[in-house]
Amino acid sequence: MRQVLIVHFSQTGQLDRLAQSVCEPLQQCSDIQLDYLQLQPAQPYPFPWPFLEFFRIFPETVLMRPQPLLPLAVDASKRYDLVILAYQVWFLSPSQPMTAFLASPEAAHLLKGTPVVTLIGCRNMWLMAQEKVKSRLTELGARLVDNIALTDACGTAASFLATPLWLFTGRQKSYSWVPRAGIDEAEIVAASRFGVAMAQRLTADSLPIEQPMLSGLGAVKIDEKLIASEKVGNRSFQLWSRLLAALGPQHSRRRGAGLVVYILFLLCLIVTVVPLSALLKKLLAPLLKERTQREKAYFAGPSGE
Ligand SMILES: Cc1cc2nc3c(=O)[nH]c(=O)nc-3n(C[C@H](O)[C@H](O)[C@H](O)COP(=O)(O)O)c2cc1C
Repeated sequence: MRQVLIVHFSQTGQLDRLAQSVCEPLQQCSDIQLDYLQLQPAQPYPFPWPFLEFFRIFPETVLMRPQPLLPLAVDASKRYDLVILAYQVWFLSPSQPMTAFLASPEAAHLLKGTPVVTLIGCRNMWLMAQEKVKSRLTELGARLVDNIALTDACGTAASFLATPLWLFTGRQKSYSWVPRAGIDEAEIVAASRFGVAMAQRLTADSLPIEQPMLSGLGAVKIDEKLIASEKVGNRSFQLWSRLLAALGPQHSRRRGAGLVVYILFLLCLIVTVVPLSALLKKLLAPLLKERTQREKAYFAGPSGE
C-alpha cells in the first residue's frame, strides 16, 4: 500500500478545490492510502481582508517568519511515499501557513528523504515563492519531483485589480465591470489529470519516486514577461520588509504609518515602473532571447511546461 500525504490550507476554498481535484484519482485507488493535513493558523487570517490588515502581515510573510499554527494533526513518525504541499503565494512568498509548516519539527521528520510535489494556486506570480520553498525543501532533505501551478484566468493586467478586489470584498466577481478573479473552474476540474498520472506511477511498482511524473501534462506555464518583474519585486519586498519590521510589531502605530507610506510607494511603482519596464523588456527581447529560454526552462522544472 502506497502512503500519500497532502498538506493544505485555503482561505476562499479555491486551493482546497484544486487539491481535491488532484487528489480524487489517488483517493479512488485501492492501493493508495491518502492522508490529509489541514493547516490551521492559531490566529485565523481574516477573509475578506481589511485593507491595512492585508499589508500588516507583509514583512513577516516576505521574511518567512512563521506565525503559529494549531497543533498539527499528523503522525510525524509515519513514512510517506509522497507528500503533496498545496500552497498559495502571499507577497511573492509561500503563504504564512505553509511557511509555518515548513518550519515545524513535524515537517523536518515528514519531509526528510521524501519525494514532494508542490501544488500552487495563485494570481500569477509564483516563481520567487517556489524558489523559497525549493531552498527550504533542500534544507529539510526532501526531493522535489514535480510542481503544478495554476493561475488566475483573467490575465496579468486585469488580475492586478480583480484579485485584490476579491480579497478585499470577498466576492470573486467583485463588480460587474471587473473580470472574475481566480482560477478557471474548468482548469480546476481538469487538474485531476495530475492525480491520474501520480496514481499510475505510484501503483506501477514499489520503488521510490525519483523522477517527475507529470512531464508533458502542462503542469506549469512560464510567463517570460514576469521573470524580471518577480526578481525585482522580490528584491524590493525584502528591503521594505526589513525596514517595516524594524519600525515595530505588527499592530504598532509606527508600522501602520510606515505601511501607508509603503502602499503609496507601491501604487506609484505600479503605474510608472511596471509599464516602463514592460516596454524596455519588449525592446530588449530579441537580445535576451537565449537567456530568457534558459530561465524559462529552469523555472519550469522539474515537471516542465
Ligand atoms: C496576503 C496575500 C498576498 C498575495 N500575494 C500574491 C502574490 O504575490 N502573487 C500571487 O500570484 N498571488 C498572490 N495572492 C493571491 C493568492 O495566491 C491566492 O490566489 C488567493 O489568495 C486565493 O487563495 P485561497 O485558496 O487561499 O483562497 C495573495 C493573496 C493574499 C491573501
